[in-house]
Amino acid sequence: MANRTVTLKAPGGLDQLQVQEREDAAAPRAGEIRVRLHASSLNFHDYAVVAGMIPCDDGRIPMSDGAGVVEAVGEGVDEFAVGDRVVSTFFPAWLEGPARVGDFRSTPGDGVDGYAREQITRPATWFTHQPEGYSHAESATLTTAGLTAWRALVVDGGLKAGDTVLVLGTGGVSIFALQFARMMGARVIATSSSNEKLEKLKALGAEHVINYRETPEWGKKVKELTGGEGVDHIVEVGGPQTLPQSIDAVKIGGHLALIGILTGREGDIPTAKLMAKQATLKGLIVGSRRDQIEMIRAIEASNLRPVIDREFGLEEIADAFRHQESGKHFGKICLSF
Ligand SMILES: NC(=O)c1ccc[n+]([C@@H]2O[C@H](COP(=O)([O-])OP(=O)(O)OC[C@H]3O[C@@H](n4cnc5c(N)ncnc54)[C@H](OP(=O)(O)O)[C@@H]3O)[C@@H](O)[C@H]2O)c1
Repeated sequence: MANRTVTLKAPGGLDQLQVQEREDAAAPRAGEIRVRLHASSLNFHDYAVVAGMIPCDDGRIPMSDGAGVVEAVGEGVDEFAVGDRVVSTFFPAWLEGPARVGDFRSTPGDGVDGYAREQITRPATWFTHQPEGYSHAESATLTTAGLTAWRALVVDGGLKAGDTVLVLGTGGVSIFALQFARMMGARVIATSSSNEKLEKLKALGAEHVINYRETPEWGKKVKELTGGEGVDHIVEVGGPQTLPQSIDAVKIGGHLALIGILTGREGDIPTAKLMAKQATLKGLIVGSRRDQIEMIRAIEASNLRPVIDREFGLEEIADAFRHQESGKHFGKICLSF
């Protein structure tokens, strides 16, 4: 069987992605499984790697998310059998408990080779089962975007029915956050730069929507929409330029999950206002394997389906990233192969 593999020539750039045929992945040793991969999904982090914003080794196989079918099982593996549908984890060595990793050295597609390939042999603990009834592409959206949103709201945020949640923009993490919030019985306010996307956000269950370009002081608007109180949770994917507005928008005693760098890596924060709000500002990077298992359990108990904007073939990986770069997408962009 074929094992098409995408590699990235240093120092990166979308024109430095190359597809080549490789030998079959090794037979699994004790504790390992061999997986025939069928899908991956694009995240901002993957874009940063392939575009050369994050330096990586020459020949790196990109992509953090991978989903497929178990082809062979090594000795001592009892969690998976041949034919099982599996999805990869973002931090292969962080199995459970509090955060233990603060960088991307062990992350597939960044510090180690990732899932832009058709076959891989890895320890069984690098994967979990897929949700029942999910396609491979749907499953692949969970590793990074799904789990980040889940951890922000449920694991770290302790989201409760009736809470209010603000999500920023319409990328992969934010759309999952909207969906998990609705699934858990919370109210959602959502923003976008596009009025067309605002209509889609309403269709997904956002109670109020705001165009953040037309309303640069959207923090004030969020307060108005919540009777002057502010929201309980904010999934902060923007960073330095959006955080001051988010601090305006959060309720006294509320929770800001600091996730993204869409507007840069550092900047001024109105610290006195944050203090007066007595809000929790908590950084996070994705989550543990245990968090992923619990998220999948919750997904199976609901009818949540990821929002996939578009699927591309493995050979079209550069076009897929160009589509992401254009900012036209709503939700997830996937590779299916
Ligand atoms: N910490 C973690 O564990 C973790 C995990 C995943 C992602 N992230 C980070 O989270 C961010 C989002 O990632 P993603 O993969 O979801 O990205 P993505 O799918 O590429 O989403 C990008 C979207 O963000 C929105 N956006 C851009 N600038 C914005 C702004 N100034 N204000 C509000 N929205 C804005 C745009 O939505 P509209 O077109 O609707 O305006 C855009 O389509 C990135 O910074 C990424 O690095 C962090």
